[in-house]
Amino acid sequence: MNNKTTGRSGFSSSFGVLAATLGSAVGLGNIWKFPSLTGANGGAGFLLVYLLATLAIGLPVMIAEITLGRAAKANPITTLQTLSPRKSLPWWLVGAGGMLAAFLILSFYSEVVAWVFAYVFKAIGGSILSSDRQVTEAAFGALIGDPLQSLLWQWGVLVLIGGILLMGVTKGIEGITKKLMPVLFLLLLLLCAVSLTLPKVAEGIAFLFKPDFSKITAGVILTAMGLAFFKLSLGMGTMMTYGSYFRDDQNIPATTVRVMLADLFVSMLAGIAIFPAVFSFGFAPSAGPSLVFITIPAVFSQIPGGQLLMIAFFALASVAATGAMLSMMEVPVVILHERFGMSRTKATVLTIAVLVVMGSSCALTNNVLADFKLFGMNIFDLFDFASSNVLLPLGGIAVALFVGWVWGRENFQRALSNQGALHNAAVTGVVFFLLRYVSPLLILVVMLKGLGLF
Ligand code: PHE
Repeated sequence: MNNKTTGRSGFSSSFGVLAATLGSAVGLGNIWKFPSLTGANGGAGFLLVYLLATLAIGLPVMIAEITLGRAAKANPITTLQTLSPRKSLPWWLVGAGGMLAAFLILSFYSEVVAWVFAYVFKAIGGSILSSDRQVTEAAFGALIGDPLQSLLWQWGVLVLIGGILLMGVTKGIEGITKKLMPVLFLLLLLLCAVSLTLPKVAEGIAFLFKPDFSKITAGVILTAMGLAFFKLSLGMGTMMTYGSYFRDDQNIPATTVRVMLADLFVSMLAGIAIFPAVFSFGFAPSAGPSLVFITIPAVFSQIPGGQLLMIAFFALASVAATGAMLSMMEVPVVILHERFGMSRTKATVLTIAVLVVMGSSCALTNNVLADFKLFGMNIFDLFDFASSNVLLPLGGIAVALFVGWVWGRENFQRALSNQGALHNAAVTGVVFFLLRYVSPLLILVVMLKGLGLF
């Protein structure tokens, strides 16, 4: 639907807003990154820090981004420039940093989506369905170790997502996510039910919920905070862009809390589906990025109809990943379109072209470029680290500071209360306090400590 005053496209219904925002938040961050990182960082302690980061930092920053976007109804660069009273300050850097983060994340994310897509077809073939660790590990190893397969699946994913974006904001994003999100919830619930019948369910659940505080280091805290940003699509302009498509009567705090809870719920379901299986079949919780891909086939091998369910699982993961990728691509596309005067088609094609080149380095990380390291990390890990643990938190600091110290309490309150229509002064007050004092400082300290800078 086109906005009458600005002529820009926007989301057409309140449910559409929720579905699309949730579509951005819920993705491989929940199904792949959350279990891998929780497993690699000691389980429940990490989960607890992640929860705290989500509440103290994620929620306020998310509310801030959406509110700014809706107030300016523009891309992230224009948003901060129009809302800033002092035009001389380089707020456009936030948009530029967001664009860089989008390209870095999409480069490795599109490769993980490629694995997910490949697994849908492998599941149809049935060859990876086994409870034997060696079989599932070998199947995953064969996929990521093959440069041609890795590249072709990734390019296929990029072209597919580009095609959806070319259909336009409302029809493309809203239409697809609205239909597919409910299916995703149902399928995950089913997976959990299966996993809870496995022999070592108690060990898996204890790993996920009984904290061992000795595992929490500054690096772990930074990773947990980075995950909070990543999972809620914060710090790179995605939520600001989506905010610009929000309706003026949408209740932003209520929508945000719902998205956060639903996102958390999906992650917990993924954790409950995976960890009992990890222990029951003798996998290492710390397997990292491969965890989901080697564990899930083992779970499904145990149950009648497992092959069909596995096809469903990976199809579901592709759906979740598609919503998230669409929202990430929207950032460079809308900036190129609105700031650099390109048509949406041209902007989308250029974004895809850049990603084919940058993303290829991630597709080749586990094969041709396996020994290539920068700062002690391979390219895939480096792109992940630089985006989640550096760029997104920096973006978060900037957004919090902008609202807290530049845009100011009055503007924030007016926008968040829908020009006074909502009586939420108390909520606004708390969020504003967090944005002005707590979030920026907390993010900065966690970042500097986690990076070993002080
Ligand atoms: N939140 C998405 C996920 O969990 C990833 C994402 C990050 C999307 C940043 C947009 C922006 O998979």
